[in-house]
Amino acid sequence: MTDLSTSIAGVRFPSCFMNASGALCVTRDELLALGLSRAGAIVTKSMTVEPRDGNPAPRYFGFPSGSINSMGLPNLGYKAYAALIPELKTLGKPVIASVAGLCEDDFPMIAATINAAKPDLIEVNLSCPNIPGKPQIGYDAEASERLLKRVRKVITVPMGVKLPPYFDPAHHTVMGAVIGRCGVDFLNLINSVGNGLVVDPEREVVVIKPKGGFGGLGGTIIKPVALANVRAFWKIFEGRMPIIGTGGVVKGVDAFEHVLCGASAVQIGTVLVEEGVDAFGRLETELAAQLSKKGYTRLEDCRGKLKEL
Ligand code: SIN
Repeated sequence: MTDLSTSIAGVRFPSCFMNASGALCVTRDELLALGLSRAGAIVTKSMTVEPRDGNPAPRYFGFPSGSINSMGLPNLGYKAYAALIPELKTLGKPVIASVAGLCEDDFPMIAATINAAKPDLIEVNLSCPNIPGKPQIGYDAEASERLLKRVRKVITVPMGVKLPPYFDPAHHTVMGAVIGRCGVDFLNLINSVGNGLVVDPEREVVVIKPKGGFGGLGGTIIKPVALANVRAFWKIFEGRMPIIGTGGVVKGVDAFEHVLCGASAVQIGTVLVEEGVDAFGRLETELAAQLSKKGYTRLEDCRGKLKEL
């Protein structure tokens, strides 16, 4: 029998698969559906102070090898999620509250109220690429450190950080040092690859409306970038920092690759939007088959064990 349960910062998850913040997790109904599905956790949409409708549509476009989105943080506002968390916690799996903000001061304010609602973990999102005029905080090491030290003071549950993809080891090193100084309990790697552009050559037009068509890329096309970031931070923290791998998980074998690179759990975005919550059961079956084919009975047997040539 293959065991796909996992733990992150002392919290036990019945399955290593969960939704990425953003995918089918804005409304109460969507969150309850995650709770009733085979997902190993319920991850809320990244919340802001005020409720937001998000960017104008069309703002998501799926294509065979991935997706592009510029949702613009549509969410119910942090007070609504604080009120929902106790109900979500009755569904028998960990609740991860994803905290965002439109300016630095928003984050500690939201984090304090959300922390008081007692989610099992809090994920601080430093990497939304889709708010016009607002750069991704995770690309500014100083601002990231300042903000993380402030939120750490008000968060008493395990605190994670969702980072954008980095493309140079120098940036992994700098951000690794920041993370090490801020009392971070887990990482989520990566958010979408920001500010890509997908073109419809037939109609000679962009495929999403916000930001002139620029948006965050997800799905299969970003898997090598996600794996590289998981591996780089796994090495920096010598396997001691729990990592949620996000990016390009469409089949069970994709999750296996994330685990080999060092992930303790994986999140799904594009495939969840395309397939719905049934994706969780399929992925579990596929990953269990992959592990047993390799003679592993649990994730710990192969986590981080990627070989180098
Ligand atoms: C969005 O709402 O635009 C996506 C969320 C994110 O990238 O963090």
